[in-house]
Amino acid sequence: MTRKILVTSALPYANGAIHLGHLVEYIQTDIWTRFQKMRGHECWYVCADDTHGTPIMLRAEKEGITPEQLIARVHAEHSRDFAGFHVAFDNYHTTHSDETRHYSEDIYGKLKAAGLIEVRSIEQFYDPVKAMFLPDRFIKGECPKCGARDQYGDACESCGAAYAPTELKNPYSAVSGAKPELRSSDHYFFKLSDPRCQEFLRRATRAVCENQPEAINKLQEWLGEPGENRLTDWDISRDAPYFGFEIPGAPGKFFYVWLDAPIGYMGSFKNLCAKKGLDFDAFWGKGSTAELYHFIGKDILYFHALFWPAELEHAGYRIPTSVFAHGFLTVDGAKMSKSRGTFITAESYLAQGLNPEWLRYYFAAKLNGTMEDIDLNLDDFVSRVNSDLVGKYINIASRAAGFIVKRFDGKLDARHLIEIFRAELPGLIEAGEDIAAHYEARDYARALRRVMALADQINQYVDKNQPWQLAKQEGQDARLHEVCSLLINAFRILTIYLKPVLPRLAHRAEEFLNVAPLHWADAVHLLPPARLINPYEHLMQRIDPKQVEALVAANRESLAPAVSSAPTPASAQPSPQRKAQHQKATEDKTQGQAEPAAQHISIDDFAKVDLRVARIAEAKHVEGADKLIQLTLDLGEGENITRNVFAGIKSAYDPAQLVGRLTVMVANLAPRKMKFGMSEGMVLAASDADGKSPGIYLLSPDSGAQPGMRVK
Ligand code: MSP
Ligand code: ZN
Repeated sequence: MTRKILVTSALPYANGAIHLGHLVEYIQTDIWTRFQKMRGHECWYVCADDTHGTPIMLRAEKEGITPEQLIARVHAEHSRDFAGFHVAFDNYHTTHSDETRHYSEDIYGKLKAAGLIEVRSIEQFYDPVKAMFLPDRFIKGECPKCGARDQYGDACESCGAAYAPTELKNPYSAVSGAKPELRSSDHYFFKLSDPRCQEFLRRATRAVCENQPEAINKLQEWLGEPGENRLTDWDISRDAPYFGFEIPGAPGKFFYVWLDAPIGYMGSFKNLCAKKGLDFDAFWGKGSTAELYHFIGKDILYFHALFWPAELEHAGYRIPTSVFAHGFLTVDGAKMSKSRGTFITAESYLAQGLNPEWLRYYFAAKLNGTMEDIDLNLDDFVSRVNSDLVGKYINIASRAAGFIVKRFDGKLDARHLIEIFRAELPGLIEAGEDIAAHYEARDYARALRRVMALADQINQYVDKNQPWQLAKQEGQDARLHEVCSLLINAFRILTIYLKPVLPRLAHRAEEFLNVAPLHWADAVHLLPPARLINPYEHLMQRIDPKQVEALVAANRESLAPAVSSAPTPASAQPSPQRKAQHQKATEDKTQGQAEPAAQHISIDDFAKVDLRVARIAEAKHVEGADKLIQLTLDLGEGENITRNVFAGIKSAYDPAQLVGRLTVMVANLAPRKMKFGMSEGMVLAASDADGKSPGIYLLSPDSGAQPGMRVK
């Protein structure tokens, strides 16, 4: 049965370049949609730039251009980058469009008619110099908990505390530097706390996250137990000046960017409908039998699993079939970092001459359909692509094609080979449905493991039959012809299995095999007898590790201090799930200078600090904290207890590499309750003046030291 499927990826902000982290998502989605199309389904993949909001407005102003000019330029850059990685949207639109405006007004109007919109006056910080209300991320000051300076208005990057901007000490505007004033203004709210929303979300959203247990757990946490009312109303308006859509009937009030962003999915699809003559309602109307999937990062699950379905439901549209959330990209076990050269843009990857399909293959080999973070290990990247993709798969064609062309005028064996093929390469055809099931479940890692196991089997067949020996022996022509023809057919079948991941390579293989674009169903038969193939040209080079070194070097920011007080624009969207959005702010940007030494203290002062050698017994990520790792520290037998410590070292360390190592801790620091739990001490680490990553170096004692030893 032909399925009707509409697929989206999250809409990237129109104020930043596409980087390898983004590509995890767009490549993941692209593989899935290509797979569905190869299976013969009607599948549409739409996306758009997310163009509204304060950061975009301010950035355009800084560049001396209009927001419209800025988003037009970025739209062209994003389109170029996606095309460069073979991400094949059926439509790449913009949220600054008539279609998105239409559906934003439509949905808002229906929610209002349903009594789900409420106007309330709220107090907010206002920048008197800039004459505008400030989003949380544009207010800075001292952390109310730990006193760290220059912290954002929503959470402290030093101690991890979350708070309201009004709690900051000595707040200032990150836009003008002025001291902000509290002013009140009317805001529009979507009443998520309304019993209808609560009831609906409890009933419907589990299904939306059905195949992802981690997402279900998050939902459970957000929704609480039946009867509990944990969801707060959602502030969907912003005051002028703002770049966005003005709210009908509310002059000077604009839809908050997150209100119109998901509606951009509809806008982009509506735009596609006009181009292709498709029926919009067949996909978005209530009772639609089409499937609707949103691929997103785990940081924006709240918006997609709660707000979005609630909006759609109460405005009379269908809700998504599923939301597929993925984890975040790390490079060599750590967050992407500009000073380490691992904050790599799509543009620079291509400009350095690296093949986009290497990255597609590597990401696919790591993606398993869960919300776990995925690591791009640069050494592993080189070895996996070279040994698997080139060494195992490409090799099959290069070993067989020469003989066919040179010895048999490019013609395959004239007999029907299917019986021999099944006997000599058993399971190759039969594996197709299994591999398809793994793609369908977004477990590309498993699909590729299966394909590579088949490639191993085929290579064993090559080694056993040694075509290069047959070629030298008298009277072995027929056998040589048969072996090489079987191999060309085997290569063709693997090409089908890999085509969702490697579309460009598959296209070149199709040219070489002299066949029409391959579909999944083509894997159950062989090429026709006596088929003429084209001369083989090498289909893919190996990666030279030097290319990867050059890429990292090209992306490494100069170590000169380049401290800027302006927040990272892409992260400057305030949100109800602050911590989540916040996560992206931490792609670090600075390398500070040495701090001047502090004042003298007496030896007695120093002796008050109980420093101990500790063994890191356990280390793990803290959900929702972008700087913190949770450590369980073992202080040795005398103490027979462990300490729970939250350390702000996530930007520099991967938990896995910490377990088992010794470090030094302050053992008599008063325990402190943090947002994520009790912290019972502190580990010592060196860092630059402002404590920003990546200059974080955990101390370790010389070898021989034992947990519990005192440091004096
Ligand atoms: N504009 C919003 C999405 C609106 S959807 C209606 C946004 N934009 S974004 O540019 O910050 O991110 C776009 C997508 O890329 C998100 O799904 C996000 O999770 C994903 N990623 C951004 N950085 C990433 C990594 N480092 N790793 C993996 N995915 C990442 O959020
Ligand atoms: Zn703090």
